[in-house]
Amino acid sequence: MTTVIDLGEWGDGFRRDPHPFYARLRERGPVHRVRVPPPDGHETWLVVGYEEARAALADPRLSKDATRIGVTFLDEQLIGKYLLVADPPVHTRLRALVSRAFTMRRVEELRPRIQGITDELLDAMLPLGRADLVESLAYPLPITVICELLGVPELDRAEFRKLSNEAVAPTSAESEYDAFARLAEYLTELIEDKRCSGPSEDLLSDLIRTTAEDGDRLSPGELRGMAFILLIAGHETTVNLITNAVHALLTHPDQLAALRADPALLDGAVEEALRYEGPVENATFRFAAEPLEIAGTHIAAGEAVMIGLTAADRDAARFPAPDRFDIRRDTRGHLAFGHGIHYCLGAPLARLEARTALRSLLDRAPALALDGPPGDWLPGMLIRGTRTLPVRWGQRGGLRLVR
Ligand code: HEM
Repeated sequence: MTTVIDLGEWGDGFRRDPHPFYARLRERGPVHRVRVPPPDGHETWLVVGYEEARAALADPRLSKDATRIGVTFLDEQLIGKYLLVADPPVHTRLRALVSRAFTMRRVEELRPRIQGITDELLDAMLPLGRADLVESLAYPLPITVICELLGVPELDRAEFRKLSNEAVAPTSAESEYDAFARLAEYLTELIEDKRCSGPSEDLLSDLIRTTAEDGDRLSPGELRGMAFILLIAGHETTVNLITNAVHALLTHPDQLAALRADPALLDGAVEEALRYEGPVENATFRFAAEPLEIAGTHIAAGEAVMIGLTAADRDAARFPAPDRFDIRRDTRGHLAFGHGIHYCLGAPLARLEARTALRSLLDRAPALALDGPPGDWLPGMLIRGTRTLPVRWGQRGGLRLVR
């Protein structure tokens, strides 16, 4: 008889700091049967060991397409097919279409604009002396970048933020449904407006053109799904990378001092933030398309499997002293961006944004410090980050260095 561990019983402490809980699970084995906390409350397998997680992410027997086991989830029902709910060959086709438009060159071309947006945000924030970092920098930077990249003209940011937050970290089943329904309406209108407003050079126009030129290669639902995943994945995660990285540095003064003394450590600091407090706590659900075993645990066909990315990245068998935040460590192989065919499409963009934000913030706010406790950790088991991060920087902040 399999023991089911009820994660809901672990209470608020699990949300605030899940790492000791995952560590206890890892001690007992790499795979567990768990019930996730409400509002979901369903049972799933949870993989917490690094090697097993990495192998599971690349295992074709673990399907992303729940329709293969006769289930269509809310997001797919209301929005349409998208990369993270598709298997090959549909996934291969969708990924090839978006990769053609979302190129390294396009990301590189964004570099000056990302610096420009960061500078403007810091110009507005730094004279204040204290601020919520999420509100002032970590949220507006990635949302502005992804909207400009996609060519989203005027977005009601406050409304979109509420819907998007609710979709990735739902507070109740009803509000989750409403959020997906309203996001679907919003995206349909957005695509229609773009179609009508004539040709432009942005990514969404490229994708619409692809659809028009190649006949039915991207269906209306797939186009909506693509806009959905790019807009949501394009900012919800990066917000928390910037926030978690600053949070980790400000609570580890020796690491912050090392980075200030040697700016060449910046890339290492971003990678260590990804490993230490990755914004995606668990990968999106997979389902056993056929019976299989993970580390001797039998998984029946149709059962759900959740792969713990933050749990894997704190596995001492892969990263020695995993609870130590150490910007000089070898972080290669961390799973914060996933692994295998669903490996994050936006990783280069996320890295560029996080490096730019951190470098500029530390340059211009030499006395940066926490200004009280961070806000609540986001609910749910998908995204890891705090709702707010109060910071202050005293009198000296604000000067923009002329390069
Ligand atoms: C720090 C920031 C980010 C993190 C930690 C992150 C993490 C991830 C992870 C873990 C996955 C795989 C999920 C799974 O296998 O279940 C993923 C997939 C994806 N990400 Fe990101 N992401 C970030 C930023 C971005 C950005 C900026 C974009 C787009 C502009 C983006 C677009 C995507 C897309 C489209 C997929 C689906 C890929 C596929 O299924 O083939 N992500 N991301």
